[in-house]
Amino acid sequence: MAVRRRLLQHPVPLPMSPLRGDGSGNAARYKAVAVTLPSAWRAPHFIIIDSAAMAFDSQPWTPESWQQLPVLQQVRYPDPDELRSVLARIASWPPLVTSFEVDTLRRRLAEAANGRSFLLQGGDCAERFEDCQEEIIKNRLKILLQMSVVLIYGLKMPVVRVGRFAGQFAKPRSAPTETRNGVTLPSFRGDNINGSAFTAEARRPDPARLILAYRCSAVILNLVRALGEGGFANLHNLHYWNLGFAERSPHYEEYRNIIRRVRDALTFAETVAHQPIGGLRRVRFFTCHEALHLPYEQALTRTSKYRDGVYNLSTHLPWIGKRTLELGTAHVEYMRGIRNPIGIKVGPHLSPRELTSLVRHLNPEGVYGRLTLITRFGVSKVEQALPPLVRAVRDGGHKVLWCCDPMHGNTQQTNDGIKTRHFDSILAEVKLVNRVLAAEGARLGGVHLELAGEDVTECIGGASGLEESDLRRAYLTTVDPRLNAEQALEVALRIVGMLDLMPRN
Ligand code: PEP
Ligand code: CO
Repeated sequence: MAVRRRLLQHPVPLPMSPLRGDGSGNAARYKAVAVTLPSAWRAPHFIIIDSAAMAFDSQPWTPESWQQLPVLQQVRYPDPDELRSVLARIASWPPLVTSFEVDTLRRRLAEAANGRSFLLQGGDCAERFEDCQEEIIKNRLKILLQMSVVLIYGLKMPVVRVGRFAGQFAKPRSAPTETRNGVTLPSFRGDNINGSAFTAEARRPDPARLILAYRCSAVILNLVRALGEGGFANLHNLHYWNLGFAERSPHYEEYRNIIRRVRDALTFAETVAHQPIGGLRRVRFFTCHEALHLPYEQALTRTSKYRDGVYNLSTHLPWIGKRTLELGTAHVEYMRGIRNPIGIKVGPHLSPRELTSLVRHLNPEGVYGRLTLITRFGVSKVEQALPPLVRAVRDGGHKVLWCCDPMHGNTQQTNDGIKTRHFDSILAEVKLVNRVLAAEGARLGGVHLELAGEDVTECIGGASGLEESDLRRAYLTTVDPRLNAEQALEVALRIVGMLDLMPRN
């Protein structure tokens, strides 16, 4: 993916059509930033760009400056006017998260980068509107809570919980179309863009889906915040986090033992202190998603009355994925100017030079906590491809948090054409990434997993021995296979064993 002269789709920019919120009403603390749209959202034309010749860093950034650059993974809406009006509505609505929360997360990630805490990022590959249900939301929190107790207990450090939820709808695709039995239709791009059913009607991008995405995100965040504040997350109520089906699993006893010891330690500490220990009743969850749909992200890009700079307030931690991180393209440009901590997926497709250019471009001031590099290699590629990247980042003096996504490089197809991942490869990748980082003087500070709180059958392996023949039983994901709750808990238990000797600063 070297910087090179190439053909890229480029939208024709529209004259400015500011839809500026006035800072009154619901969103009193935040001002919506102007939303302008490329006019030919439907009909991109081709231009030749020479990215090497562009002096990106010196260009002034605005929330819409990305529109001047090629937009990878662009969605073509049949009716751009309808899209414009939907975005205007979203831009007038309150933000989903606050700049205070975003800054808090950046500080927490800085701690993780320094070896004083551990990042647990997890959730769906692609959220579905139909999963905006109490049980599903709660079960996902339960498994993340169980995993975090295991990690806190085992690694002896705080865990920063960041859910791939409340906005993880849009999906990048390797091919713009999909063909089945001789019929070719646009690919499914996530519930906020089109439908997954293989019909022309479902696959047509529909701007109204963005409204539903905003609303589902708000509903999910509401429950997550309420549960995090209330009795549900209280460490004294560990039994609330039980997931009936997972208790049959062979390693559940190991989890129960940890819980017992945590409970004893709490009782002991509170007895000695003669009072309840504060801070145990609340648990904070942050959110993350791939910032793929830039018009939507822009509509939720706001300034705050109380803070400098511009924030993406659709999520705490947006990331750019493998398919949209080329310097000189729109997603990188958008990320450059927002104040949020951001994630970058790093895989064998990036050269050391490309990575350090990207890191410098996105964090020129070297702010700790700003960049989380999420490795996604595939177990067979880690040892060869990761070391030069770690060395380049280290030698450049860049401050980053290294986090391992052991899912996306380990996807394989069964003979029946079902996408799956093997538990052993997932675990092996975490182990190797940890080892390579430690050998290069860096440190693994987090994991990034696709997981469900339900008893799904999408990944094979694990202590309960899921096999290929089990996959059809409960295969619910619309894009990538997730660990089920049992497998996810087992990953947390095993990670503790393997990261025990991590170097700490
Ligand atoms: C993802 O996280 O779902 C994803 C598509 O990742 P990547 O960009 O690393 O392939
Ligand atoms: Co995925």
